[in-house]
Amino acid sequence: MLQTLTERLFDDSDRSQLDPLALFEEWYALAQESEPNDPHAMALATADQSGMPDVRMVLLNRRDERGFCFFTNFESDKGRQLIANPQAAMVMHWKSLRRQVRMRGPVEQVTTEEADEYFASRAKGSRIASATSKQSRPLANRQQMMDEVAALTAMVGDGDMPRPTHWSGFRLIPTMIEFWKDGEFRLHDRVRFTRDGVGAPWNSTRLYP
Ligand SMILES: Cc1cc2nc3c(=O)[nH]c(=O)nc-3n(C[C@H](O)[C@H](O)[C@H](O)COP(=O)(O)O)c2cc1C
Repeated sequence: MLQTLTERLFDDSDRSQLDPLALFEEWYALAQESEPNDPHAMALATADQSGMPDVRMVLLNRRDERGFCFFTNFESDKGRQLIANPQAAMVMHWKSLRRQVRMRGPVEQVTTEEADEYFASRAKGSRIASATSKQSRPLANRQQMMDEVAALTAMVGDGDMPRPTHWSGFRLIPTMIEFWKDGEFRLHDRVRFTRDGVGAPWNSTRLYP
């Protein structure tokens, strides 16, 4: 009988041929079926200049064999932190599945083409909102933001809203991916994959939960 990748992950006989990125796809597909909203939401952890951790939710956008991308304002707290210290961790928790996936690794900026392509795919209202938002900086009151949105909307008119240069994406290139699945009496299943760098083989270890 053909096993799912998840069954192979946890049966302990042989994980050597398992690709954690393919496993991620298997779990992500299930999450898309079962989560009531935002199966692509993930907590993204960074560190500031003093080493103090910071964390917030972002949306997982494009992903491929290179890594996992999210888009944001590069002048935001997270943007500045990642430019100064380009490494991050992220975690996705799907309550409906009782499963968690964690990753850590270096972060790179997506290409201009990738950023343009994603920005162009968004609704015009969202593009105008992104261009207006001085993310992470003080705002006197909501009305000020709404006035700025109205002014930019009027200025753009029927024209295009191009991507502001400070709005782009980061790609987390995992060197660690860990899969956690809820078990009875808190005897959860937990397997961690690590590799030395991009292109290097993945090694896996089961961990006490
Ligand atoms: C479910 C969810 C998804 C979010 N997705 C994004 C995102 O993709 N990009 C983004 O910049 N902020 C996103 N946010 C807002 C961030 O959590 C955060 O408030 C904002 O990016 C400012 O964070 P910073 O000050 O640490 O840079 C999201 C919030 C939630 C709750």
